[in-house]
Amino acid sequence: MKIVVLAGGLSPERDVSLSSGSLIANALREAGHRVLLLDVYEGTSSDENDLEKLFQDKTGIPYSYKVPKTAPDLEEIKRRNNNGDALIGENVLKLCQAADIVFIALHGAMGENGQIQAAFDVMGIKYTGTGYIGSLLAMDKDISKKLMSQSGIPTAEWAVFEGTGISAAAVEDKVGLPCVVKPCSSGSSIGVSIVDSIDELEAALNAAKLVEPQILVEKKVAGREFSVGILEGKALPVIEIIPKQGFYDYANKYQSGCTEEICPANLSVEDTLRVQCLALRTHEVLRLGTYSRVDFIMDEKGEFICLEANTLPGMTPTSLIPQEALAGGISYVELCNKIVQLSL
Ligand SMILES: Nc1ncnc2c1ncn2[C@@H]1O[C@H](COP(=O)(O)OP(=O)(O)OP(=O)(O)O)[C@@H](O)[C@H]1O
Ligand SMILES: [Mg+2]
Repeated sequence: MKIVVLAGGLSPERDVSLSSGSLIANALREAGHRVLLLDVYEGTSSDENDLEKLFQDKTGIPYSYKVPKTAPDLEEIKRRNNNGDALIGENVLKLCQAADIVFIALHGAMGENGQIQAAFDVMGIKYTGTGYIGSLLAMDKDISKKLMSQSGIPTAEWAVFEGTGISAAAVEDKVGLPCVVKPCSSGSSIGVSIVDSIDELEAALNAAKLVEPQILVEKKVAGREFSVGILEGKALPVIEIIPKQGFYDYANKYQSGCTEEICPANLSVEDTLRVQCLALRTHEVLRLGTYSRVDFIMDEKGEFICLEANTLPGMTPTSLIPQEALAGGISYVELCNKIVQLSL
């Protein structure tokens, strides 16, 4: 097959996506496909007659990309590309139309919130993963939490604050401390802070506001952290996440050796089934397709509290779903190939 692996983009998670995309592209070439790793924002200025030559089989040089310690400067990337307001770069749509399927390796912003999925639907371009409705429902943590609450999936109490004039006092009054401040529709922990005392709240709100104006604040849940991948309508083995320092933030997610991951998690059979059932239920309630990853914290009473669901879970060297798949007997190459086959 001819496959475009779409990555990068003008998202705070572009570096993570380029790392995921590189590994996915190599894996799909290994599986015998002709593949092009393409930055959706940068596009390519190749001549129209040369576009076909951009697809490479496994004899080409492998792709590789290392995620830096901090999130990228998007203004700098905008200046470098001169795309104006367009989020899709030169020749991207032409190349996607020429492919048998687009593997969406984007994280965050228009790649994960349903916009690109909706555009592909109307253009008749086939793509991997969840459709535009599920993408939107899962990306907006306020909407996701409303749907989870209505469906009996435990989630931490929360409130949403809008705009620039959010006061720390109002947040303390409405949600209380300790709490977690996050951008409403982002990922990779960018702009997420855990706030234990009132004097940390202002800085946390400012960090989230840098990502987007809509801010979600929820009660902090103290306990062990777990994640459950869903593939083909079934839960994969549960993974436990133990950062060596602090919480599971951007650096702890993508710098190797910063976090210990245990898969299958050391949980009783009963707890394993309980969290897997909750993950599956969340996947269904949010109308997710093909594959997803649902994140939880087990509170002091032993109850699994759902944090959120990811429609485009990380596929980097340190990411969780490839480790869960492997524990379930599915290699990285098989995982990528399966996602393609199931999506078609
Ligand atoms: N209510 C909470 N209580 C305690 N810790 C939390 C809470 N919410 C989030 N965290 C911590 O912050 C991390 C990031 O939170 P969350 O998963 O909501 O953000 P995200 O940016 O969407 O992450 P990603 O998309 O990479 O999974 C969690 O993995 C967890 O370690
Ligand atoms: Mg998460």
